[in-house]
Amino acid sequence: MSIQGTEDIILEVKNLQTIFKTDTGDVRAVDGVSFKLPKGKTIGIVGESGSGKSITSLSILQLLASNGKITNGEVFYKGDDLLKLTENQMRKLRGNEISMIFQEPMTSLNPVYTVGQQISEALMLHQNMSKKDAFIRSVELLQLVGIPSPDKRVKNYPFELSGGMRQRVMIAMSLACDPEILVADEPTTALDVTIQAQILELIKELQDRLGMSVIFITHDLGVVAETCDYVAVMYAGQVVEYSDIRTLFHQPKLPYTIGLLKSLPRHDIEQDKLEPIKGNVPSPHEMPVGCRFSPRCPAATDLCRTKMPQLETDENGNQVRCWIYTDEWTGEAEVDIYGETRIAKSGGAKTVLPD
Ligand SMILES: Nc1ncnc2c1ncn2[C@@H]1O[C@H](COP(=O)(O)OP(=O)(O)OP(=O)(O)O)[C@@H](O)[C@H]1O
Ligand SMILES: [Mg+2]
Repeated sequence: MSIQGTEDIILEVKNLQTIFKTDTGDVRAVDGVSFKLPKGKTIGIVGESGSGKSITSLSILQLLASNGKITNGEVFYKGDDLLKLTENQMRKLRGNEISMIFQEPMTSLNPVYTVGQQISEALMLHQNMSKKDAFIRSVELLQLVGIPSPDKRVKNYPFELSGGMRQRVMIAMSLACDPEILVADEPTTALDVTIQAQILELIKELQDRLGMSVIFITHDLGVVAETCDYVAVMYAGQVVEYSDIRTLFHQPKLPYTIGLLKSLPRHDIEQDKLEPIKGNVPSPHEMPVGCRFSPRCPAATDLCRTKMPQLETDENGNQVRCWIYTDEWTGEAEVDIYGETRIAKSGGAKTVLPD
């Protein structure tokens, strides 16, 4: 599976940078995020807490808090750079062509309106439906997301629903206008495992039926393995590795990705034990000058500690931000990463992986 190839790219994020002004200085929450989303496919965004996953998606939709500002980059959607659109044009796009399931469903459902009123509002606003048609469609949507007795539930207020149902309502709302792109930020983390599986199945089913493209943000690599075609790994505000799902799981390149694969629970393989990556994510106020992972990286050299690597693309369209994979790399010929020998030759490295 190649990312370049002939696939139709529906969204391309290029070198995105988002800064928050705070009392203690600027926070570069997103600082060099690039990825491509092929039409009809799912891209997963993974990375530790605070790595900038939510802010990346909120930047794409331009829904940042008032102290936040996009200071660089481009977000191409159907040939237009979204960052150049007016707020009015963006408003038409949000919820209509690009819609989002937020990380915290309670904060995005309005407690004083019934779920039917909220779904109907989106339909009346974006699809010019009459109140009556919008109400009928709301019941259909609740049914579509698997809510029992949708004709009764449509009249419920958010507090009358369980967490799993609220999440389904959020999904129903985000799908109300048949979006081209669905951005789902940890849509299932707060739910129990069975409901999680049902919701993932539902998103997949709708994707097949509607040809939607999905950006899926999650901590759970097992979920990534089951749902995504491509994965962008984020670290400290940057995309550090981007590849198709097979390559990511079978030939991860970055020491960080390898660490992440070993430290997070996966349901796709048997794991003897989880090994957390040593050390912590750098504070946004004290970013390392070189590679941001270098203070925690078992393979880091002086080059890594002093100069920031760029995101390089290989012949398959996969990307890595790591000195090991460049001609400049003069580190050990054999590098031991997390207890396994990976051969790293000067002038371009190869990873040798366990079966
Ligand atoms: N309004 C804000 N003001 C200042 N800093 C912010 C603001 N919003 C987010 N940040 C900072 O931006 C960085 C990225 O945050 P983000 O929410 O994108 O992380 P995340 O990868 O989604 O984490 P999680 O997995 O915990 O959801 C963090 O350091 C966070 O503290
Ligand atoms: Mg988040």
